[in-house]
Amino acid sequence: MSKVRLGAIGAGWWATSNHFPIFAAHPDVELVGVCGLGPELTEIRDKFGFGFATEDADELLDAGLDAVVITTPHDLHHPIAAKALDRGLHVLCEKPMTLNADEAWDLAQRAEKAGTVFLVPYGWNYKPFTVAAKKMLDEGGIGEIQYAVCHMASPTRGLFGNDPTHMLERWNSATAPNPTTWSSPARGGGYAHGQVTHSSALLFWLTGLRAASVAGRVMTAGAPVDLFDAGVIRFDNGALGTLSGAATLADGDKYQIDIRLFGTDGVMMIDVERERVTLSRYDGTRTELEITPDEGEYECLIPPARFIELITGASSENNSDVEVAARSVELVDALLRSSSQDGAEVAVHA
Ligand SMILES: NC(=O)c1ccc[n+]([C@@H]2O[C@H](COP(=O)([O-])OP(=O)(O)OC[C@H]3O[C@@H](n4cnc5c(N)ncnc54)[C@H](O)[C@@H]3O)[C@@H](O)[C@H]2O)c1
Repeated sequence: MSKVRLGAIGAGWWATSNHFPIFAAHPDVELVGVCGLGPELTEIRDKFGFGFATEDADELLDAGLDAVVITTPHDLHHPIAAKALDRGLHVLCEKPMTLNADEAWDLAQRAEKAGTVFLVPYGWNYKPFTVAAKKMLDEGGIGEIQYAVCHMASPTRGLFGNDPTHMLERWNSATAPNPTTWSSPARGGGYAHGQVTHSSALLFWLTGLRAASVAGRVMTAGAPVDLFDAGVIRFDNGALGTLSGAATLADGDKYQIDIRLFGTDGVMMIDVERERVTLSRYDGTRTELEITPDEGEYECLIPPARFIELITGASSENNSDVEVAARSVELVDALLRSSSQDGAEVAVHA
């Protein structure tokens, strides 16, 4: 196949520090054009070798692309992805895919109609140890899930509090995100949309669960957006669960994602911080995965490469498709609605 003609919309901190170096070095990719706002766009075009730069997303979408990568602020993901899908493009869309459930399922419908690749780059869904954990679950390792714990915490006090220095150092990046991308309530800032999106997408991909209702609360603790999130979930299969998120780990500490699944036949624990996956079955079988040191650290190198492989046919494994992303969006959307209704239990979907 000839090279994938790729366009990029959004050229800020994350696009320039993660996606663009990967795509620029990829032998199967032609960087057709880049779209963003601001004077630095020309420099970004030249640095990564894009064919042209524009502030007009429609101009780029109409430039004869095969695929587009969307790395804009959260509230722009839906309108841009919808336009891209309606043009029959393959789409890599950043998390959170959208800010509400209706928009999420709208994209799922459009993606099905387009029949193209749609991937949301959730890095933890592509780690060898999470892939191995999913295989054990798919093989019936714990039977039917009855209870699920899903906890996440991140060293993101600065990112959600308008001082992204730690994130820039961690990703060796000179480009600071626009503070509104992460800290504006109106634009989907906050820990739930910004980070719980990762842990919930990991949970839904691993288990195939879908949330039916949630009762929860979020807390800003003086910040403009939520820093702490907590919820009690009922899943479609009748299982119960708890969701927890905290934005305030100390800078330099490892991300925590702790997923504990209790089933009819046993228990599985997935702990990315301490890099442990254990399966403990009621028949006495115990399995502990061997995990390469530091494999739990967050990085997002595989998803952009996998996006291209899915387009070229080199892979058929999409661990973070539109369905997984939509289940995550609808849960976060419902959690925030519940919190605004004083913690009342709300339906996640009809
Ligand atoms: N998958 C991950 O692990 C991961 C990690 C970090 C960030 N992200 C996501 O990446 C996205 C961007 O985050 P960021 O920190 O790079 O933000 P940022 O503020 O640094 O960048 C946003 C970009 O969008 C552009 N933009 C804004 N309005 C636009 C418009 N109307 N048309 C075209 N371009 C427009 C800006 O010019 C900028 O280039 C967010 O959705 C974020 O959640 C994902």
